[in-house]
Amino acid sequence: MCGIIGFTGHLDATKVLTKGLAELEYRGYDSAGIAFFENEEIRTIKTAGKVACLKEKVEASTINDATCGIGHTRWATHGGVSDTNSHPHTFGNVTLIHNGIIENYKELQAELALQGKTPISQTDTEIAAMIIDDCFDGDPIEAIKKADARLDGQYGFCIMFKGIPGKIFCIRNGSPLVATHTEKGSVIASDMVALIDYSKDYFVLPEHVIATLTAEDITLVDLEGNNVEPEMLHVDWDIEAAMKGGYDYFMLKEIHDQPAALMNTITPRIKDGLPTFEADNVPDEVFTNCNRILITACGTAMHAGLVGKNLIERIARVPVTVDVASEFRYNDPIMDEHTLVITISQSGETADTLAAIRLAKEHGAKTLSIVNVKGSTIARESDYVLYTHAGPEIAVASTKAYTVQLSVFYLIAARFALVTNKFTEDDARDYITKLQQAIESVNEVLANEKDFEDVSASLDTAENLFYIGRGLDYCLAMEGSLKLKEISYIHSEAYAAGELKHGTISLITEDMPVIAIATQNGVYSKMISNIREVKARGAKVILITNGDDQNVDESICSFQVSIPKIDDMFAPFTTSVVIQYLAYFCAVRRALNVDQPRNLAKSVTVE
Ligand code: M6R
Repeated sequence: MCGIIGFTGHLDATKVLTKGLAELEYRGYDSAGIAFFENEEIRTIKTAGKVACLKEKVEASTINDATCGIGHTRWATHGGVSDTNSHPHTFGNVTLIHNGIIENYKELQAELALQGKTPISQTDTEIAAMIIDDCFDGDPIEAIKKADARLDGQYGFCIMFKGIPGKIFCIRNGSPLVATHTEKGSVIASDMVALIDYSKDYFVLPEHVIATLTAEDITLVDLEGNNVEPEMLHVDWDIEAAMKGGYDYFMLKEIHDQPAALMNTITPRIKDGLPTFEADNVPDEVFTNCNRILITACGTAMHAGLVGKNLIERIARVPVTVDVASEFRYNDPIMDEHTLVITISQSGETADTLAAIRLAKEHGAKTLSIVNVKGSTIARESDYVLYTHAGPEIAVASTKAYTVQLSVFYLIAARFALVTNKFTEDDARDYITKLQQAIESVNEVLANEKDFEDVSASLDTAENLFYIGRGLDYCLAMEGSLKLKEISYIHSEAYAAGELKHGTISLITEDMPVIAIATQNGVYSKMISNIREVKARGAKVILITNGDDQNVDESICSFQVSIPKIDDMFAPFTTSVVIQYLAYFCAVRRALNVDQPRNLAKSVTVE
């Protein structure tokens, strides 16, 4: 969601800020702004719309010697998209930017009204600026401490105070902030993508710790006034990983990144042909002491969990339930010390997923997270973490982050089965070989890119469609459907193929294309019958299959997409690439903004 950047040092701050905001665009936003010290005065430039509009405004202004400032991309929550509601917000001595939601802003606004203070915007953020100003008596740290006690909700703030040039003060509760200091100065941002230009070494600002950024250093104090030492982290990817690398869109690049990302994720976890989490410090007791698994996550990550459930139940024979994280904690889930709660998150910052972990811990359950961003809140709050190694994922639509999440579930299922004697070592070795072969075969799908564009052309006029499948293919249908809706804006619904005739088949006409996935041997013939049912009612069918069935011809499908023939348990890797391509080409053919679809944020840090 909102993007934050702050810089103070020896560079032109307006350039650092606008560049940083452009790098954070992928998080999703609708307005942008910066504030900076100029001749000891704070000046603000902000606008509804894109960072490019902001940049034009900045470049059209005469700015003298600005070396300290804050910048923000806003994803509207409270108040519409307008110049006034854009950040930074200023009240009295305080100018700030904010990522999060101030839950008690209405009560605070009423308190301030009694003093005759009224905001000019509709935002919760301006109320936070007013409260910090209300607490300010010349000492910024004291003001922030007092305000922290009055604010409820989630926040990452970067604050500048009138008359205190060259300094940025920051605090967070929930919303992420990462920072680094180099000889060029001090930088803070909502994620590493905006810091990597300066350093690969950084720290996550601990919650309720106040950071003071100056050109010389960054100091941290907690709310009791104790100095805090930052815990330094290192990212293992380079600036190129966060660039398009010659591709038209980040999404296309990230689709192509998958074979390497998958290998990077599984290889360190295979020893002597067997799955192991030794280097991740996940002991086998996590599996041997567990009689039930609850998986929870949001969106695409939850879809990875559905595949995980199928695998774990199939080979480790332990019951698994999957729930979306926004429902999980309101469903009063049954958990105890023998429950393993697995959460999945690319960003590691998704608010609902984080809330689920906190609830699981209250119930004494063990928590294991599958996370892509090192040091993220979900990773830090979980008992155990299995990091995926996808590198930065910039396109809002998740591709490589999803398939690496799948790969970790394949390893979890195998390790679980091995340590609970459901698998012999030979079984596990055979399974791991098949997993490696499946990942290899992703390259074959990538080599057929052009075919997917051709098939997508058949959906040029589609407004609605169905994705159908059975078993693992149904899990993939759900992901395919989400991907398509998210970036091509084609309304689509994923359906268990056998369930159509219990109501939904009434929607099938010649205007309702159906994408059918048929890769699972055990249900293949049933799936073909279900396809015949929709074909008989006029649907145009796109069939994704790994079979070489002679009976599959134009009488049942208009287009056939063949994926490599591998053990069907591992088909999700190749199928994933196909569904990603279909969504991608549909969006490109409709001339849509593939990487930044409307209304969406990459990382959803509010509930
Ligand atoms: O960062 P997370 O993996 O926790 O994000 C969860 C979802 O918001 C995310 O997967 C979303 O559904 C994707 N944009 C879909 O492509």
